[in-house]
Amino acid sequence: MIECRTISKKFGAFKALENVSFSIPSKKCYGFLGQNGAGKTTVLRMLVGLLRPDQGEIFVAGHSLLTERQQVQRLCGYLPQRPEFYPWLSGEEFLRLSAELVGVPARQAKKAAGKYLDIVGLADFARRRVGKYSGGMQQRLGLAAALIGDPPVLLLDEPVSALDPQGRDSMFSLLKKLKQEKTIFLSSHILHDIEQVCDGVVIIHKGQIKALGTMPELLEQSGESIVRAQVHFEVDGRMMNQLQAEFSGAMQGIGIPVSNVAWQEQGLEQLFYKVVKQAEEEQHQNSSTGHGGARDGNMAR
Ligand SMILES: Nc1ncnc2c1ncn2[C@@H]1O[C@H](COP(=O)(O)OP(=O)(O)OP(=O)(O)O)[C@@H](O)[C@H]1O
Ligand SMILES: [Mg+2]
Repeated sequence: MIECRTISKKFGAFKALENVSFSIPSKKCYGFLGQNGAGKTTVLRMLVGLLRPDQGEIFVAGHSLLTERQQVQRLCGYLPQRPEFYPWLSGEEFLRLSAELVGVPARQAKKAAGKYLDIVGLADFARRRVGKYSGGMQQRLGLAAALIGDPPVLLLDEPVSALDPQGRDSMFSLLKKLKQEKTIFLSSHILHDIEQVCDGVVIIHKGQIKALGTMPELLEQSGESIVRAQVHFEVDGRMMNQLQAEFSGAMQGIGIPVSNVAWQEQGLEQLFYKVVKQAEEEQHQNSSTGHGGARDGNMAR
Protein backbone atom coordinates (compact mmCIF):
# COMPACT_ATOMS: atom_id res chain seq x y z
CA MET A 1 0.00 0.00 0.00
CA ILE A 2 2.83 2.39 0.92
CA GLU A 3 6.13 1.89 -0.83
CA CYS A 4 9.35 3.89 -0.56
CA ARG A 5 12.01 3.00 -3.10
CA THR A 6 15.62 4.08 -2.50
CA ILE A 7 14.79 7.51 -1.10
CA SER A 8 17.71 9.83 -0.37
CA LYS A 9 17.64 13.39 0.93
CA LYS A 10 20.34 15.90 1.79
CA PHE A 11 19.90 19.13 3.73
CA GLY A 12 22.94 21.09 2.53
CA ALA A 13 25.85 18.71 3.04
CA PHE A 14 23.98 16.67 5.66
CA LYS A 15 22.65 13.32 4.47
CA ALA A 16 19.29 13.06 6.26
CA LEU A 17 18.14 9.94 4.38
CA GLU A 18 20.18 7.37 2.52
CA ASN A 19 18.60 4.76 0.26
CA VAL A 20 15.50 4.39 2.35
CA SER A 21 13.35 1.53 1.06
CA PHE A 22 10.41 -0.14 2.75
CA SER A 23 6.83 -1.11 2.08
CA ILE A 24 3.78 -1.37 4.29
CA PRO A 25 0.96 -3.75 3.41
CA SER A 26 -2.64 -2.66 3.06
CA LYS A 27 -4.81 -2.52 6.22
CA LYS A 28 -1.87 -3.02 8.53
CA CYS A 29 -0.56 -0.74 11.23
CA TYR A 30 3.23 -0.26 11.25
CA GLY A 31 5.26 1.65 13.81
CA PHE A 32 8.11 3.92 12.72
CA LEU A 33 10.86 3.91 15.30
CA GLY A 34 14.15 5.73 15.59
CA GLN A 35 16.06 8.05 17.87
CA ASN A 36 15.59 11.84 17.78
CA GLY A 37 16.89 13.09 14.45
CA ALA A 38 16.85 9.64 12.81
CA GLY A 39 14.69 10.81 9.90
CA LYS A 40 11.12 9.77 10.76
CA THR A 41 9.48 13.15 10.26
CA THR A 42 11.48 13.69 7.07
CA VAL A 43 10.13 10.41 5.61
CA LEU A 44 6.55 11.11 6.73
CA ARG A 45 6.63 14.61 5.21
CA MET A 46 7.84 13.05 1.95
CA LEU A 47 5.01 10.52 1.99
CA VAL A 48 2.49 13.37 1.89
CA GLY A 49 4.39 15.37 -0.68
CA LEU A 50 5.54 18.19 1.65
CA LEU A 51 9.18 17.46 0.91
CA ARG A 52 10.79 16.19 -2.26
CA PRO A 53 13.31 13.37 -2.20
CA ASP A 54 16.59 14.05 -4.04
CA GLN A 55 16.43 10.53 -5.33
CA GLY A 56 14.02 7.59 -5.28
CA GLU A 57 10.29 7.18 -5.63
CA ILE A 58 7.22 6.82 -3.42
CA PHE A 59 4.03 4.95 -4.26
CA VAL A 60 0.76 4.93 -2.35
CA ALA A 61 -1.85 2.42 -3.50
CA GLY A 62 0.08 2.13 -6.76
CA HIS A 63 0.08 5.89 -7.46
CA SER A 64 3.46 7.54 -7.88
CA LEU A 65 3.89 10.64 -5.74
CA LEU A 66 6.06 12.10 -8.46
CA THR A 67 3.44 11.96 -11.21
CA GLU A 68 0.13 11.60 -9.33
CA ARG A 69 0.66 13.80 -6.31
CA GLN A 70 -2.96 14.88 -5.93
CA GLN A 71 -4.32 11.33 -5.95
CA VAL A 72 -1.77 10.34 -3.32
CA GLN A 73 -2.60 13.33 -1.14
CA ARG A 74 -6.29 12.50 -1.33
CA LEU A 75 -5.58 8.99 -0.05
CA CYS A 76 -3.58 10.13 2.98
CA GLY A 77 -4.64 11.66 6.29
CA TYR A 78 -1.61 13.26 7.93
CA LEU A 79 -1.01 14.32 11.51
CA PRO A 80 2.18 16.43 11.66
CA GLN A 81 4.51 16.17 14.65
CA ARG A 82 3.67 19.78 15.53
CA PRO A 83 0.31 20.58 13.96
CA GLU A 84 -0.39 24.25 13.32
CA PHE A 85 -3.79 25.88 13.54
CA TYR A 86 -5.46 29.24 13.05
CA PRO A 87 -5.69 30.14 16.75
CA TRP A 88 -8.74 32.35 16.31
CA LEU A 89 -10.94 29.52 14.96
CA SER A 90 -12.90 27.26 17.29
CA GLY A 91 -12.21 23.51 17.15
CA GLU A 92 -15.44 22.99 15.26
CA GLU A 93 -14.72 25.75 12.73
CA PHE A 94 -11.23 24.37 12.16
CA LEU A 95 -12.59 20.88 11.49
CA ARG A 96 -15.30 22.17 9.17
CA LEU A 97 -12.60 23.94 7.20
CA SER A 98 -10.44 20.79 7.20
CA ALA A 99 -13.42 18.75 6.00
CA GLU A 100 -14.10 21.13 3.11
CA LEU A 101 -10.41 21.12 2.17
CA VAL A 102 -10.46 17.34 1.73
CA GLY A 103 -13.62 17.48 -0.36
CA VAL A 104 -16.43 16.91 2.15
CA PRO A 105 -19.42 18.89 0.78
CA ALA A 106 -20.11 22.04 2.86
CA ARG A 107 -23.55 20.73 3.91
CA GLN A 108 -21.97 17.64 5.51
CA ALA A 109 -18.90 19.35 6.94
CA LYS A 110 -20.65 20.49 10.14
CA LYS A 111 -21.91 16.98 10.84
CA ALA A 112 -18.47 15.50 10.10
CA ALA A 113 -16.81 18.05 12.41
CA GLY A 114 -19.16 17.05 15.25
CA LYS A 115 -18.57 13.36 14.64
CA TYR A 116 -14.77 13.62 14.72
CA LEU A 117 -14.71 16.03 17.68
CA ASP A 118 -16.63 13.37 19.53
CA ILE A 119 -14.31 10.54 18.39
CA VAL A 120 -11.23 12.34 19.71
CA GLY A 121 -12.92 13.40 22.96
CA LEU A 122 -13.27 17.13 22.23
CA ALA A 123 -17.06 17.40 21.93
CA ASP A 124 -17.21 19.56 25.07
CA PHE A 125 -14.67 22.01 23.65
CA ALA A 126 -16.11 22.41 20.15
CA ARG A 127 -16.60 26.16 20.57
CA ARG A 128 -13.39 26.99 22.41
CA ARG A 129 -10.79 28.81 20.30
CA VAL A 130 -7.97 26.51 19.20
CA GLY A 131 -5.40 29.02 20.50
CA LYS A 132 -6.76 28.27 23.95
CA TYR A 133 -6.55 24.48 23.59
CA SER A 134 -3.94 22.63 25.66
CA GLY A 135 -1.12 20.76 23.85
CA GLY A 136 -2.93 17.42 24.15
CA MET A 137 -6.20 18.96 22.93
CA GLN A 138 -4.42 20.37 19.89
CA GLN A 139 -2.95 16.94 19.17
CA ARG A 140 -6.43 15.40 19.37
CA LEU A 141 -7.78 18.08 17.04
CA GLY A 142 -4.91 17.37 14.62
CA LEU A 143 -5.87 13.70 14.62
CA ALA A 144 -9.51 14.59 13.97
CA ALA A 145 -8.37 16.69 10.99
CA ALA A 146 -6.32 13.73 9.68
CA LEU A 147 -9.35 11.43 9.99
CA ILE A 148 -12.08 13.72 8.75
CA GLY A 149 -12.11 12.81 5.05
CA ASP A 150 -12.08 9.08 6.00
CA PRO A 151 -8.84 8.48 4.05
CA PRO A 152 -7.66 4.87 3.58
CA VAL A 153 -4.09 5.74 4.67
CA LEU A 154 -3.14 7.44 7.95
CA LEU A 155 0.33 8.91 8.49
CA LEU A 156 0.70 9.96 12.09
CA ASP A 157 3.83 11.64 13.40
CA GLU A 158 4.01 10.99 17.15
CA PRO A 159 0.23 11.02 17.67
CA VAL A 160 0.40 10.41 21.42
CA SER A 161 3.40 12.52 22.46
CA ALA A 162 1.27 15.20 24.16
CA LEU A 163 -1.52 12.98 25.44
CA ASP A 164 -2.29 12.05 29.03
CA PRO A 165 -2.37 8.32 29.89
CA GLN A 166 -6.13 8.01 29.28
CA GLY A 167 -5.76 9.94 26.03
CA ARG A 168 -3.00 7.56 24.97
CA ASP A 169 -5.12 4.54 25.81
CA SER A 170 -8.11 5.86 23.90
CA MET A 171 -5.90 6.80 20.94
CA PHE A 172 -4.49 3.28 20.77
CA SER A 173 -7.97 1.70 21.12
CA LEU A 174 -9.09 3.94 18.26
CA LEU A 175 -6.10 2.91 16.13
CA LYS A 176 -6.85 -0.77 16.81
CA LYS A 177 -10.35 -0.20 15.43
CA LEU A 178 -9.18 1.90 12.49
CA LYS A 179 -6.55 -0.58 11.34
CA GLN A 180 -9.28 -3.04 10.36
CA GLU A 181 -10.03 -0.77 7.41
CA LYS A 182 -7.04 1.55 7.02
CA THR A 183 -3.31 1.38 6.45
CA ILE A 184 -1.59 3.19 9.32
CA PHE A 185 2.04 4.28 9.63
CA LEU A 186 2.86 6.05 12.86
CA SER A 187 6.02 7.23 14.52
CA SER A 188 6.33 7.05 18.27
CA HIS A 189 8.88 6.68 21.03
CA ILE A 190 6.42 4.77 23.21
CA LEU A 191 7.60 1.27 22.37
CA HIS A 192 5.17 -0.51 24.65
CA ASP A 193 2.18 1.08 22.92
CA ILE A 194 3.62 0.39 19.47
CA GLU A 195 4.05 -3.22 20.45
CA GLN A 196 0.40 -3.45 21.54
CA VAL A 197 -1.15 -1.92 18.43
CA CYS A 198 1.24 -2.44 15.49
CA ASP A 199 1.50 -5.44 13.20
CA GLY A 200 5.07 -4.56 12.33
CA VAL A 201 7.78 -1.92 12.60
CA VAL A 202 10.27 0.02 10.51
CA ILE A 203 13.39 1.08 12.42
CA ILE A 204 15.43 3.96 11.04
CA HIS A 205 18.84 4.97 12.35
CA LYS A 206 20.66 8.10 11.17
CA GLY A 207 18.78 8.12 7.89
CA GLN A 208 19.12 4.43 7.09
CA ILE A 209 16.57 1.64 7.50
CA LYS A 210 17.99 -0.91 9.88
CA ALA A 211 15.07 -3.25 10.46
CA LEU A 212 11.70 -3.84 8.83
CA GLY A 213 8.97 -6.44 9.21
CA THR A 214 6.47 -8.01 11.52
CA MET A 215 7.54 -8.67 15.09
CA PRO A 216 7.86 -12.47 14.61
CA GLU A 217 9.93 -11.90 11.42
CA LEU A 218 12.23 -9.41 13.15
CA LEU A 219 12.75 -11.59 16.17
CA GLU A 220 13.60 -14.51 13.94
CA GLN A 221 16.03 -12.40 11.87
CA SER A 222 17.69 -11.03 14.98
CA GLY A 223 18.51 -14.60 15.94
CA GLU A 224 17.13 -14.25 19.43
CA SER A 225 16.38 -17.71 20.71
CA ILE A 226 16.14 -16.80 24.37
CA VAL A 227 12.67 -17.24 25.85
CA ARG A 228 11.69 -16.58 29.42
CA ALA A 229 9.72 -19.44 30.97
CA GLN A 230 7.26 -18.86 33.77
CA VAL A 231 6.17 -22.01 35.55
CA HIS A 232 3.12 -21.77 37.80
CA PHE A 233 2.55 -24.38 40.47
CA GLU A 234 1.46 -24.57 44.05
CA VAL A 235 3.90 -25.77 46.60
CA ASP A 236 4.41 -25.70 50.34
CA GLY A 237 6.52 -22.62 51.10
CA ARG A 238 8.89 -24.72 53.19
CA MET A 239 10.01 -26.51 50.03
CA MET A 240 11.32 -23.31 48.41
CA ASN A 241 14.91 -23.72 49.50
CA GLN A 242 14.99 -27.27 48.21
CA LEU A 243 13.35 -26.13 44.95
CA GLN A 244 15.80 -23.32 44.35
CA ALA A 245 18.70 -25.66 44.88
CA GLU A 246 17.43 -28.50 42.75
CA PHE A 247 15.01 -26.90 40.32
CA SER A 248 16.57 -28.01 37.07
CA GLY A 249 15.74 -31.59 36.52
CA ALA A 250 14.10 -31.98 39.91
CA MET A 251 10.44 -31.27 39.03
CA GLN A 252 9.63 -34.81 38.00
CA GLY A 253 11.71 -36.30 40.77
CA ILE A 254 9.82 -34.61 43.59
CA GLY A 255 6.38 -35.13 42.00
CA ILE A 256 5.12 -31.54 41.65
CA PRO A 257 2.36 -31.18 39.04
CA VAL A 258 3.05 -28.20 36.74
CA SER A 259 -0.27 -26.48 36.07
CA ASN A 260 0.80 -23.91 33.49
CA VAL A 261 3.90 -22.97 31.54
CA ALA A 262 3.86 -19.53 29.84
CA TRP A 263 6.47 -18.58 27.28
CA GLN A 264 7.35 -14.94 26.97
CA GLU A 265 9.34 -13.95 23.94
CA GLN A 266 11.76 -11.05 23.68
CA GLY A 267 9.86 -7.76 23.29
CA LEU A 268 10.09 -4.75 21.00
CA GLU A 269 12.03 -2.75 23.56
CA GLN A 270 15.01 -5.13 23.61
CA LEU A 271 14.83 -5.50 19.82
CA PHE A 272 14.91 -1.73 19.27
CA TYR A 273 17.92 -1.23 21.52
CA LYS A 274 19.71 -4.11 19.85
CA VAL A 275 19.17 -2.66 16.34
CA VAL A 276 20.40 0.78 17.46
CA LYS A 277 23.44 -0.72 19.19
CA GLN A 278 24.35 -2.78 16.11
CA ALA A 279 23.96 0.28 13.87
CA GLU A 280 26.23 2.33 16.16
CA GLU A 281 28.84 -0.44 16.12
CA GLU A 282 28.67 -0.68 12.31
CA GLN A 283 29.04 3.08 12.01
CA HIS A 284 31.98 3.05 14.41
CA GLN A 285 33.65 0.29 12.36
CA ASN A 286 33.01 2.16 9.09
CA SER A 287 34.44 5.40 10.43
CA SER A 288 37.54 3.65 11.77
CA THR A 289 38.06 2.00 8.34
CA GLY A 290 37.41 5.34 6.59
CA HIS A 291 33.89 4.51 5.21
CA GLY A 292 30.92 6.82 5.78
CA GLY A 293 30.85 10.54 6.49
CA ALA A 294 30.39 12.57 9.63
CA ARG A 295 26.77 12.95 10.70
CA ASP A 296 24.87 14.99 13.21
CA GLY A 297 21.34 14.98 14.53
CA ASN A 298 21.57 12.72 17.53
CA MET A 299 22.22 13.42 21.14
CA ALA A 300 25.48 12.05 22.48
CA ARG A 301 24.80 8.91 24.47
N1 LIG B 1 14.48 21.41 6.78
C1 LIG B 1 15.59 20.93 7.31
N2 LIG B 1 16.78 21.52 7.15
C2 LIG B 1 17.92 21.01 7.67
N3 LIG B 1 17.96 19.87 8.37
C3 LIG B 1 16.82 19.21 8.57
C4 LIG B 1 15.57 19.71 8.06
N4 LIG B 1 14.59 18.83 8.42
C5 LIG B 1 15.20 17.86 9.14
N5 LIG B 1 16.53 18.09 9.22
C6 LIG B 1 17.51 17.24 9.89
O1 LIG B 1 17.30 15.90 9.43
C7 LIG B 1 17.47 14.98 10.51
C8 LIG B 1 16.21 14.15 10.65
O2 LIG B 1 15.18 14.97 11.21
P1 LIG B 1 13.73 14.41 11.49
O3 LIG B 1 12.90 15.55 11.94
O4 LIG B 1 13.26 13.63 10.32
O5 LIG B 1 14.01 13.40 12.72
P2 LIG B 1 12.99 12.52 13.56
O6 LIG B 1 13.39 11.09 13.40
O7 LIG B 1 11.60 12.87 13.22
O8 LIG B 1 13.33 12.97 15.07
P3 LIG B 1 12.37 13.20 16.34
O9 LIG B 1 12.20 11.85 16.99
O10 LIG B 1 13.19 14.11 17.20
O11 LIG B 1 11.10 13.82 15.88
C9 LIG B 1 17.82 15.83 11.75
O12 LIG B 1 19.24 15.84 11.87
C10 LIG B 1 17.30 17.19 11.40
O13 LIG B 1 18.03 18.21 12.04
MG1 LIG C 1 10.07 13.73 14.20
